Amino acid sequence: MFNLFFHDFAYHTKIDNHEQIKQKIFNQKYLSVLQDTLEWECKVKTSFKKTLIDDSIFSDIQLEIKKIVHEMLSKISPSSKISSIDFPKSNIWMNLYNVGDYQDYHDHTNNKCNFSFCYFMNYDPEKDAKFVFFNEKFKMFRTQGLTDQLLFDLGIHDNIFPNVEEGHVIIFPSHYTHRTTIQQYDTNRCTVSGNFFVNV
Ligand SMILES: [Fe+2]
Repeated sequence: MFNLFFHDFAYHTKIDNHEQIKQKIFNQKYLSVLQDTLEWECKVKTSFKKTLIDDSIFSDIQLEIKKIVHEMLSKISPSSKISSIDFPKSNIWMNLYNVGDYQDYHDHTNNKCNFSFCYFMNYDPEKDAKFVFFNEKFKMFRTQGLTDQLLFDLGIHDNIFPNVEEGHVIIFPSHYTHRTTIQQYDTNRCTVSGNFFVNV
């Protein structure tokens, strides 16, 4: 039999009070202040690092994320205790994608976080750009002469497309490489992303 080792993990669930959060944050007051950024290889309007939006408006999201992290850890290891979940200042931001917008491969590593999240606040699964994880191990197998098809048949993929709907959130270790495909519609695809440190 085949054994597949070295599993990576991410936690994918729904935000409980998504509708209230969307009503409070997804409006012109905040969307209109988002700006282009030169910080990343991307084309996207964002509040990242410019303190365009005060962290306080994301407080409900932070509470939801903390609740979900407790749920996640209890499923991994019911006996584990979390001593703290810390959100560093300016490590939560909003991104808005319209036609032609995208984000190239990147990760969220810095010395203040071990987990990151992406919350799909305004998202149409039929039209909006996909969130994609990149499996770093795939290229190592490829350089050993294994064909893409053989790897796919083994269930090992280079690009992983989580099945996302509006109101969903994905929590993942901050070092995971990921990207956003090119947005094809003016549907105001909007996400809130952030970084935090879980002390266990
Ligand atoms: Fe990201």
